[in-house]
Amino acid sequence: MKRIGLLTSGGDAPGMNAAIRSVVRTAIYFGMEVYGIERGYAGLIDDEFVPLEMRSVSDIVQRGGTKLRTARCLEMLTKEGQKQAVATLDKHKIDGLVVIGGDGSFRGAKVLSEEYGVPTIGIPGTIDNDLQYTDYTLGFDTAVNTCLDIINKLRDTMTSHERISVVEVMGRHCGDIALYSGIASGAEIIIVPEINFDMEDVVMKINRSRASGKHSNIIVVAEGVMSADQFAKQLQEVTEYTVRPTCIGHVQRGGSPSMADRMLAAQFGNKAVRLLCEGIGNRVVGIHKNEIIDMDIIEAVSMKKQFNYELYETLQMISM
Ligand code: F6P
Repeated sequence: MKRIGLLTSGGDAPGMNAAIRSVVRTAIYFGMEVYGIERGYAGLIDDEFVPLEMRSVSDIVQRGGTKLRTARCLEMLTKEGQKQAVATLDKHKIDGLVVIGGDGSFRGAKVLSEEYGVPTIGIPGTIDNDLQYTDYTLGFDTAVNTCLDIINKLRDTMTSHERISVVEVMGRHCGDIALYSGIASGAEIIIVPEINFDMEDVVMKINRSRASGKHSNIIVVAEGVMSADQFAKQLQEVTEYTVRPTCIGHVQRGGSPSMADRMLAAQFGNKAVRLLCEGIGNRVVGIHKNEIIDMDIIEAVSMKKQFNYELYETLQMISM
């Protein structure tokens, strides 16, 4: 393999830049050329290629966002879009492709490898942590740490005023950001898409905590259930305590990646290029039980994300 392409796609995630750096440097180490494709699949279809050298990826390991920029590309779901993408890869004589992104981006990668024979490797980059085959996705750790920083601050003021804070975090279908930031911040309640909630139960838990001497409550709500505003409104109707909503929003998608995300980025990028070097495509890389793994892309995208009920029970037992 002589020349590889690299793109970031879907929602950005802290650590994408560190992964770009790792891919580029590993490829150069093995004597390959790398072309960055800007704006994800949109740039692949529209031919937005830039050569990436050793120094093109200097000074980005610590930066959030993605140097290559990103997009959510509906055209890639159409046959015409896919054919145009393959034609552009052929035009630039790209022998293999690395796609950094989440579930939707992996579906595009799967089509390219399965239907058009382009050796493609997926690197999981999304704050959502919604891919079953890997224990962690790139950006999740940083996003949760950002949420923790904000929840810590909310706790200060909620305790002073004896209020309830309803904090909305990202996660349309997957409650992992709510689950992890809830446990790690000591939130009393988390509301996730995977588990139905009962407002009476929420009120009961709040009252129980107040009766035992607590002066504030934190409820973390995943956006897929409802907004913080909506939840706070419903809760205010049935509680005597003052409720305040906060939506963390896109702040949780930015910022300098944590050590954990930089380490994942270094290892994922390195592994992706090593696979291509060995002539292996159609795989995704990930981490399972602390080991860097790779898996067939078709198998990986067909796995349904399982919610960690054990962690949820842990929260129920220790946060009150
Ligand atoms: O997929 C990542 C993600 O941040 C989700 O958690 C969130 O629901 C979505 O992207 C937001 O998308 P956008 O930035 O397009 O509003």
